[in-house]
Amino acid sequence: MEKEYNEKPNNQAEADNAPESSGDTVLDVKGLSVSFGGNVQAVSDVSFQLKQGECFALVGESGCGKSTTARAVMRLIREPGKITAGEVDFGGRDIMKLNSTEMAGIRGKNIGMIFQNPLDSLNPVYTSGDQVAEGLIVDKVEKKKAWEIADAVFHDVKIPDPEKRLKSYPHEISGGMRQRVMIGMMLCRKPKILIADEPTTALDVTIQASIIELMNELRSEYNTAVMLITHDFGIVADMADRVAVMYAGKIVEMGGVFDIFDRPLHPYTRLLMKALPTITKKEGRLETIPGTVPDLSKEIKGCRFAERCPYGKDICREHAPEIKDIEEGHSCACWLLDDEHEETVNSAGSAGRPEGGEA
Ligand SMILES: Nc1ncnc2c1ncn2[C@@H]1O[C@H](COP(=O)(O)OP(=O)(O)OP(=O)(O)O)[C@@H](O)[C@H]1O
Ligand code: SF4
Ligand SMILES: [Mg+2]
Repeated sequence: MEKEYNEKPNNQAEADNAPESSGDTVLDVKGLSVSFGGNVQAVSDVSFQLKQGECFALVGESGCGKSTTARAVMRLIREPGKITAGEVDFGGRDIMKLNSTEMAGIRGKNIGMIFQNPLDSLNPVYTSGDQVAEGLIVDKVEKKKAWEIADAVFHDVKIPDPEKRLKSYPHEISGGMRQRVMIGMMLCRKPKILIADEPTTALDVTIQASIIELMNELRSEYNTAVMLITHDFGIVADMADRVAVMYAGKIVEMGGVFDIFDRPLHPYTRLLMKALPTITKKEGRLETIPGTVPDLSKEIKGCRFAERCPYGKDICREHAPEIKDIEEGHSCACWLLDDEHEETVNSAGSAGRPEGGEA
């Protein structure tokens, strides 16, 4: 990172954001549920914690509720969506109970979000440079300095011809560049939590690598907790400390990155891992998971994965399994783990760590 915006805290605004101890819980999400139009249960009773300085990855097939979970944490669910239940504890306060002024104070400086669609966060009537500088001015950075930082961050996220692009409006730059403007806008404010929803999709590999490096620097220097949403398991393997696997609106398994890659417990996670390229299986046809995700507008009685699960038994279609700790730091929602845990895990074997590629 360029020195200009990487200096240690030298004013009150920055001191407020000074790192706390690594490993402290910085965000505690409990029982979060979101529905669209009253009947599509997009997120269902989701709970997880984020710790200072860690990278927590949220993975799962398209439409499983990853972005909706992230937006709900930021209270950015729009009509016809509604947060129907849950608490999100940040700094000892439940974000869900804050008024709009208090919430505006949380977004950006405390919790920054890189959106899957950059147009969700860029204002069409301001230049790219104005948008980056404005956030810093809100953080009480002096105007001239804010522009210097904006210039430095444009170099860091590898925007070509940065001096010219600072003065461009969002519609005058490409989608990939807009993505980088938004990433820069979030990184330079050094938030306590960074929620990054597919931050590097649509960027080429070398730029992807720079963005990952910038996020990792933020973690190591400012203890920023990163919640990373991605389809790219190569990035998960490179960056994540812990991983949560979502299926049809629910977290079905959560654990350390090695638990998930080397010792997956949930049948869905295992099939997902098998579908990935691995060190030993680079060639050949990738396995796909047969079947499709259930219709979230219909009531689902038992386990949401039952229609596709090769191990399903009668109880699975009748009762939904609760997520519970199976071993320290590793939890899973599956009836198999009630009585056949050891046998199932041993017979499944390891899926191996992937080297990269799409899920
Ligand atoms: N504005 C909306 N109106 C109606 N349904 C929506 C809306 N936004 C999301 N959904 C539904 O909520 C569910 C979860 O969507 P979400 O965008 O959170 O998935 P995702 O895991 O982020 O998928 P992807 O990997 O494709 O980004 C989907 O069934 C989707 O159709
Ligand atoms: S609860 Fe049953 S259907 Fe669901 S994943 Fe486990 S074994 Fe499969
Ligand atoms: Mg999404």
